[in-house]
Amino acid sequence: MATMTLSKILLLAFAFLFTYIEGRFHTKTKPKHLHVVSHISLPPAPAPAPEAASPSYYTNSPSPSPSPNLFRSPAKVYNVLSFGAVGDGTTDDTQAFKMAWDIACFQNESAILLAPDDYAFMIQPTVFTGPCKTSLVFQIDGTIMPPDGPESWPSKMNKRQWLVFYKINGMSMQGGGVIDGRGEKWWNLPCKPHKGPNGATLPGPCDSPVAMRFFMSSNLTVQGLKVKNSPQFHFRFDNCQNVIVQMLSIKSPPQSPNTDGIHIENTKNVQIYNSVVSNGDDCVSIGAGCHNVDIKNITCGPSHGISIGSLGIGNSKACVSNITVKDSVIKHSDNGVRIKTWQGGYGSVSKISFHNIQMETVRNPIIIDQYYCQTNTCTNQTSAVHISDILYTSIKGTYDVRSPPLHLACSDSVPCTNLKIAEIELLPAKGQIVANPFCWNAYGEMQNLTIPPISCLLDGIPLYAGQNTLDQCQNNLY
Ligand SMILES: *[C@@H]1O[C@H](CO)[C@@H](O)[C@H](O)[C@H]1NC(C)=O
Ligand SMILES: *[C@@H]1O[C@H](CO)[C@@H](O)[C@H](O)[C@H]1NC(C)=O
Ligand SMILES: *[C@@H]1O[C@H](CO)[C@@H](O)[C@H](O)[C@H]1NC(C)=O
Ligand SMILES: *[C@@H]1O[C@H](CO)[C@@H](O)[C@H](O)[C@H]1NC(C)=O
Ligand SMILES: *[C@@H]1O[C@H](CO)[C@@H](O)[C@H](O)[C@H]1NC(C)=O
Ligand SMILES: *[C@@H]1O[C@H](CO)[C@@H](O)[C@H](O)[C@H]1NC(C)=O
Repeated sequence: MATMTLSKILLLAFAFLFTYIEGRFHTKTKPKHLHVVSHISLPPAPAPAPEAASPSYYTNSPSPSPSPNLFRSPAKVYNVLSFGAVGDGTTDDTQAFKMAWDIACFQNESAILLAPDDYAFMIQPTVFTGPCKTSLVFQIDGTIMPPDGPESWPSKMNKRQWLVFYKINGMSMQGGGVIDGRGEKWWNLPCKPHKGPNGATLPGPCDSPVAMRFFMSSNLTVQGLKVKNSPQFHFRFDNCQNVIVQMLSIKSPPQSPNTDGIHIENTKNVQIYNSVVSNGDDCVSIGAGCHNVDIKNITCGPSHGISIGSLGIGNSKACVSNITVKDSVIKHSDNGVRIKTWQGGYGSVSKISFHNIQMETVRNPIIIDQYYCQTNTCTNQTSAVHISDILYTSIKGTYDVRSPPLHLACSDSVPCTNLKIAEIELLPAKGQIVANPFCWNAYGEMQNLTIPPISCLLDGIPLYAGQNTLDQCQNNLY
């Protein structure tokens, strides 16, 4: 509490100082704009954005406004209302967003595209394409939403994505607003089964749109927003680099199928911080081709936990390295920290660290599954993605006794190597039954006493066929 109060004071002090400096350097700016400056330039608070700042957004024409960043040239605000957006929640506002985007994107000066507070904008599936001339702020203070369900989806449009940001270099998507994916009608499509209440099996989605997809883009920040009820993944980053995701709240029902919170693939240099996710699938999922990913202070649950994989589907190559997950909480989830690979793939998962993670009533708090299979037709194969250099330290809390607290099922032919486990303290959430940890072909060491005791790791370094798997991943990110 003390640190929160301190940081609030610092924020206020910063806001004051900032407004003061801007006031001095932009003496011609009307006072009402000073509010806008301090609002946009501040790191978004977890609480909704201050109401007081909003009225000055309702400019009916694009008007100059001071910089979103003290060290950049002044940014202009492009309010979608000025481009004909209605924001009543039913009118199609797609064209207004496209026009605002086109103008903002082709400015020499950095620009702010604004979806103002107190409005709800319905946007059809759209690809926002770059590169833009300079960096952009996509400021969402109101609500944005797609058409309601598959029947309202334009028949010619791709049903696998809603908003796509393509070839963008330098964008911050932020604000105190809401991205509402209106996923309910998609979740109930009769294709893939998913779990219902009381163990029932309900129908699920086939093609369902990812809410926000960032593709072949770089230098992205997504922060402060509330994102809910995506038809499928809430965020998907693929082929991106330099991505910061922070202070998000992502929320979908526990039974909603495939609603991963943040999914990344073929993406490197990613920071995911200070966010809360509750959903019906992985909280964060990390696919093939991801490197240098830092995840910190995430609260997951209910969810399926934080997952690397699934990797190696259809005998494919997967390389994942240098992933850190720390100072996080996972609660009421099917899995805690998971690495899952299909049989028959190749490549490697290496240099992964899971540290200081609190588990609350989690099935499979620590799990490696190299026999991942979603059909009944998977056969045993000799090739596998090699899992090595995985560190599990300070993982504490409670597990759901239906599964063992630690389950390391490594490949028959390509064992896991150099697993290090220390300071584990996992107790049954209910009752006295202490399930035994399970290991299969898992090599590594236990560095100090753990609860429950883990004695199933194999010593030393195995002789195995996949000696060159790390080489398969060198000089080639994918
Ligand atoms: C942007 O800058 C370029 C080069 O400085 C200039 O030629 C062009 O007219 C400017 N465009 C706008 C829209 O200001
Ligand atoms: C991203 O930003 C960095 C530093 O701000 C810059 O050096 C780099 O060129 C940018 N990335 C791309 C792909 O332009
Ligand atoms: C962790 O994230 C939450 C938001 O989910 C935030 O309120 C809190 O201040 C963060 N803690 C630290 C130490 O940054
Ligand atoms: C690992 O990733 C972190 C960022 O999460 C980065 O700072 C570090 O340089 C990376 N290490 C290597 C060896 O690339
Ligand atoms: C596949 O391998 C597992 C582990 O060795 C074994 O339990 C299972 O019986 C095998 N399945 C088939 C179909 O050979
Ligand atoms: C357990 O081992 C880890 C890693 O070697 C070390 O950092 C930690 O201090 C040890 N904890 C205790 C209680 O000995």
